[in-house]
Amino acid sequence: MTKYLITSALPYINGIKHLGNLVGSMLPADVYARFLRQKGEEVLYICATDEHGTPAELAALEKNQDVETFCTEQHEIQKDIYKRFHLSFDHFGRSSSSQNTELTQHFCKKLMENGFIEERTIKQVYSVDDGRFLPDRYIVGTCPHCGYEAARGDQCENCTRVLDPTDLINPRSAVSGSSNLEIKDSKHLFLKLPALESKLSAFIDEHEAEWPLVVTSIARKWLKEGLRERCITRDLKWGIPVPKEGFEGKVFYVWFDAPIEYIGSTAEWAEQDPDHRDWKSWWYESKDVRYVEFMAKDNIPFHTIMFPATLLASGEPWKKVDYIKGFNWLTFYGGKFSTSQKRGIFTNQALDEFQPDYWRYWLMANAPESADSSFTFSSFAATINKDLNDVLGNFVNRVLKMTASKIGSEVPAGGEWTAVEDEFVQTLQNRIADYTKYLSELEFRKALVELRAIWVEGNNYLTAAAPWTVIKENKDQAAMILRLALNVIRLYAVLSAPVIPETAERILKLLDLNANDLAWPAQNLAEELQKLQPGHKFNVPEQPLFQKITPEVVADLCQRYGGNPDE
Ligand code: MF3
Ligand code: ZN
Repeated sequence: MTKYLITSALPYINGIKHLGNLVGSMLPADVYARFLRQKGEEVLYICATDEHGTPAELAALEKNQDVETFCTEQHEIQKDIYKRFHLSFDHFGRSSSSQNTELTQHFCKKLMENGFIEERTIKQVYSVDDGRFLPDRYIVGTCPHCGYEAARGDQCENCTRVLDPTDLINPRSAVSGSSNLEIKDSKHLFLKLPALESKLSAFIDEHEAEWPLVVTSIARKWLKEGLRERCITRDLKWGIPVPKEGFEGKVFYVWFDAPIEYIGSTAEWAEQDPDHRDWKSWWYESKDVRYVEFMAKDNIPFHTIMFPATLLASGEPWKKVDYIKGFNWLTFYGGKFSTSQKRGIFTNQALDEFQPDYWRYWLMANAPESADSSFTFSSFAATINKDLNDVLGNFVNRVLKMTASKIGSEVPAGGEWTAVEDEFVQTLQNRIADYTKYLSELEFRKALVELRAIWVEGNNYLTAAAPWTVIKENKDQAAMILRLALNVIRLYAVLSAPVIPETAERILKLLDLNANDLAWPAQNLAEELQKLQPGHKFNVPEQPLFQKITPEVVADLCQRYGGNPDE
């Protein structure tokens, strides 16, 4: 039997993520993991915070914290937000873990042994007063193009031009402000990607037919432009130490150790319960594993070339990715969500405004799969009002209330299915087959169109069967209609659970059912729709499942987060 290993790109530690980060990796991975678990598959869903590198150091500096304290704090903050979004990680680790340190150093040693590492001396800017080398973005000065005085060594924030630290006028250290800078030689390790070219090319060939075009085209572009040696070490303190003589005080480049943390985080997970968990069976000589990765498109080169290169060069039988789901960008009113410019809506703010399922539903329905998609508060409100309130919420509330008030708060007995019911059930069965297929194929937008259509069928059936009229002449017939409708509510909870798990749980509680009973519907839907037997008690919701988002609320949100109510 196949078991599924799922990873989503590790969110960077330097601050709270925005909705674009969520929909580009973690959320769709969660939907997929939940779906597979409901189907009875063995699933391991792994993620972590990506904690090394200059941005982490800079963000800590800005907060006047040492980088370790900063990372520990930020890790907890992100972890809590994802929990509130109901992201069902089996483990959410940290790339600064001892497990990752050990693995990263192991890979480096193997790569050296196998001749895939080359040592080179390069020139780096050294700050005498800080007693350290400065990465490009730690050097500030005046932009030669626009005169902006706080331009960074890699880019001018004011005119956006890309810079080299030597372009800056009056360069100084961003750490101390000192302008006592020198150019010094520094030894570094380079990964010999050209020596791995044919192996990498064969690896991409192997998956060409199956992987999405955005993924293979980016990988091919890299291969076509010719692979270059890549520096995998940095003159930084914060990071994983390089296990080699003469490299004291140097660490690995963050992009070298981050993907290895997929394995590291699995090892962290296993260590929490060593009697029952084994990380190696997921990663080493693991033929029974199907490994699926989720990420936004800027991450694709690292996952199709760099990380596979590390695994291949080790010469060891490490598990390599079987399928990559890549995403385009989610924009905020057509522009960039930006952590540094505080533009758009962040994950913590989103949760302060609405229940997580509103966001989960809108984001999955509008996932930037084949192209970028744009978030606007008007679109958000329209989707929540139409799909969740008018279609799903309305069906659930209507059926529960009507049954309780006309017959009683128990699943009613009596009556037999007619041709109308047979047809309705057949329609549902076909749509569920399509929905299941789209989820299996990771076609999320198509899946959500189908899910909505499944909800619509319920309302159509109620309109056609009209139990409120039937009940006046034939109470048994009305009982049968409502009994079926109550069973359809249960079915909706199960089918919706991958996308809106909190709602699914609330519905199952209303039906007095175990919230963990989410087994994916079997082939025979007719049987599935008789699980709630006559006499089974249910509760009537005190409040509707969802609330509409009014134009006034949209206007208020636009004002606070910077959006246009007319867009
Ligand atoms: N932190 C990176 C980003 O936000 C993603 C790292 S994914 C990993 O773009 F594979 F490297 F872990
Ligand atoms: Zn400039």
